[in-house]
Amino acid sequence: MPEYSGKLAVLHNQHYALDVSQSLADRLAVPLYFTADKKTPEDFFLSWRDGCLKLLDKELLKKGGLTVDIEPRNGEQRSWPAPKDGALAQAIGRKTKTVVDATTGWAQDSLHIFRMGYELRCIERSPIMLALLSDAYQRLEQLDWVQRLALSAPELIAGNAIQVLAELTEAPECIYIDPMFPAKRKKSALPKKSMLVLRDLLGDDLDKEVLFSAAMQATAKKVVVKSPDYAEPLGGEPNQSFKGKLLRYDVYLKK
Ligand SMILES: C[S@@+](CC[C@H](N)C(=O)[O-])C[C@H]1O[C@@H](n2cnc3c(N)ncnc32)[C@H](O)[C@@H]1O
Repeated sequence: MPEYSGKLAVLHNQHYALDVSQSLADRLAVPLYFTADKKTPEDFFLSWRDGCLKLLDKELLKKGGLTVDIEPRNGEQRSWPAPKDGALAQAIGRKTKTVVDATTGWAQDSLHIFRMGYELRCIERSPIMLALLSDAYQRLEQLDWVQRLALSAPELIAGNAIQVLAELTEAPECIYIDPMFPAKRKKSALPKKSMLVLRDLLGDDLDKEVLFSAAMQATAKKVVVKSPDYAEPLGGEPNQSFKGKLLRYDVYLKK
């Protein structure tokens, strides 16, 4: 389990139950504070605000903070299932049914995959991201359209995907991986604040080659790797590649 001491604390909000803040702080083995300011040693805080769990940056304590956004991204259709259009759907395949996202992170790809109607399971190893994701998936299940269609949020699996994938009892048709690549230039494919914070907190994913091999072993049909357009393909020459804005989806078919 990663160590967050000195980096992260839980900041209690008096409008929410204290035992919920306390148990989150205990689970992450980080301090619980009732107030924080620029002199507080930790750089990041988890706190409930505006009905969701947020990750706050010390410099921006007064601002909104980051949360897993469960609304469709710009340009995505607001229907369910949304049309399987665009590079991500092309890479996953329109006929594919079952997908495992092995690197869920802020779940923006996962939620897109979910909204397109794929059967999705999500793996994440960072306890911070798991706390934010679990809050988001509970919010997702409260949405009117999700309730109307009697949908359940994707299953969230805690752990290192390298182990989790090896232990799956049913092989998914597609395993999707989007590990953190080192930033090479200012205008990268993941310039968003949320991704920069993730890199600050978790660092680059140095075991991505091992994860790729584990995914190739565990998949029934294919592995899709999302990568910045400047990065070398993770698994060598892919069978197919679909270009998005400043990024690529490389597809590796199981032999
Ligand atoms: C670049 S982010 C993924 C962003 C995500 N695709 C999105 O749309 O928000 C990478 C995430 O994968 C997680 N991760 C990387 N390697 C992993 C592994 N082997 N097992 C589980 N999670 C992993 C990291 O903790 C991080 O949260």
